[in-house]
Amino acid sequence: MAEDLARKIIELVRSQEEWRGRSTINLIASENIMSPLARALHISDFAHRYAEGDVWHREYQGAAYIDEVEDICLKLASEVFGAKYVDLRSISGALANLAVFFGLASPGDPIASLQVPCGGHISFREFGAAGCRGLVVHDIPFSHEDMNIDLEALSEVVEKAKPKIITLGGSLFLFPHPVKDISKIASEVGAYVHYDAAHVLGLIAGGCFQRPLEEGADIVTASTHKTFPGPQGGIVFTNREDVFSRVRPAIFPGLVSNHHLHRLPSLAVTLLEFKLFGKEYAKQVVRNAKALGKALYEDGFKVLCPHKEFTESHQIAVDVTRFGGGASAAKRLEEANIIVNKNLLPWDKVSMVESPSGIRIGSQEVTRYGMKEAEMERIAELISDVLRGRRPIEQVKSDVEKLRREFPSVHYCLNIEEYEEVVGFLSYALGIKLSE
Ligand SMILES: Cc1ncc(COP(=O)(O)O)c(C=O)c1O
Repeated sequence: MAEDLARKIIELVRSQEEWRGRSTINLIASENIMSPLARALHISDFAHRYAEGDVWHREYQGAAYIDEVEDICLKLASEVFGAKYVDLRSISGALANLAVFFGLASPGDPIASLQVPCGGHISFREFGAAGCRGLVVHDIPFSHEDMNIDLEALSEVVEKAKPKIITLGGSLFLFPHPVKDISKIASEVGAYVHYDAAHVLGLIAGGCFQRPLEEGADIVTASTHKTFPGPQGGIVFTNREDVFSRVRPAIFPGLVSNHHLHRLPSLAVTLLEFKLFGKEYAKQVVRNAKALGKALYEDGFKVLCPHKEFTESHQIAVDVTRFGGGASAAKRLEEANIIVNKNLLPWDKVSMVESPSGIRIGSQEVTRYGMKEAEMERIAELISDVLRGRRPIEQVKSDVEKLRREFPSVHYCLNIEEYEEVVGFLSYALGIKLSE
């Protein structure tokens, strides 16, 4: 029985690999794929260990190699993200946000953040991490037309509410936020500017989005697995020693004990690869998102912000009310192996469980597979085929799989075949002989 169940689990994982890993066009904006080398190093003895404490100063013995790898990671992250102080022990982006809320505010303090339909993440809100810390959340006013923060209205909110933290960034994030102006507004009431770069970390590091620290943000949090194509995890960085010294204890010993060490070798390799190929990758991600937006718009879809070339990030947002709403559209696209998520748009009054009017589309993963503007036009056509019901779903699905098969390997990374020692390592780690 146990053996049968084990076989079933293996089969399920293999099916995931075959379906999501090899047969779909994945356009979920919060996901990405690691490079083969980063993936290979995700399976190691690091996954079994503890290393509480700071690098070189651990609470546990046996951390010599972990210290070395984490030290490499910290140095590379500092360089790639342009920050003096880095902590990568929060195991997710939401947890990194919670650490900021713990470090820089107290229960009952006001903060300001975007509402979820305007792009705010759940962790910014009273029902998420901000609420867990007992913070009182004020809305950052948002222009639906420009899909960006309404500075004048924000000024009034800040003057009245006197937030301790202004949280910027978001999950639906098409255009850079006006960090410079907001940091001026914040300084008038002594608020910290916290920038959540979960979605755009790879674009920032690749020099294709704003540089929040240089523009005046006090602290940045992020996930390491969205446009930055590393292992799933979180990161916090800043150039302010005083801010770091308040947030760091909230991460450890506050919120994290074991920081999921198997992430570290993969993160180090991804950072290294980003130094080599990150600029080229980030540029293509944005080009592809714009191309996809343009192709869908020219086909008659209501892509948001045509007057601003749709986006400056990896995302575009499409109002699919005419096509049955976000939930129905995403479901039908899934049947054709095109994976997107339904998304609230700023004017939506419904909740996520009801049907939001939009879908959100991200170009970062298909870019990693080497797709360019020409393929974005093909993807737009496939999306249109499904949503307009122009062709049988099965036929579109077969074309989707064909397109995906044309781009089998990950680009913008080191060539795993040049590192033969990896096969020996994997076989050693698993205790089995690996063959083709
Ligand atoms: C803006 C933003 N912040 C934080 C998170 C949470 O990140 P994680 O899933 O790493 O906890 C997300 C998740 O998608 C996000 O979009």
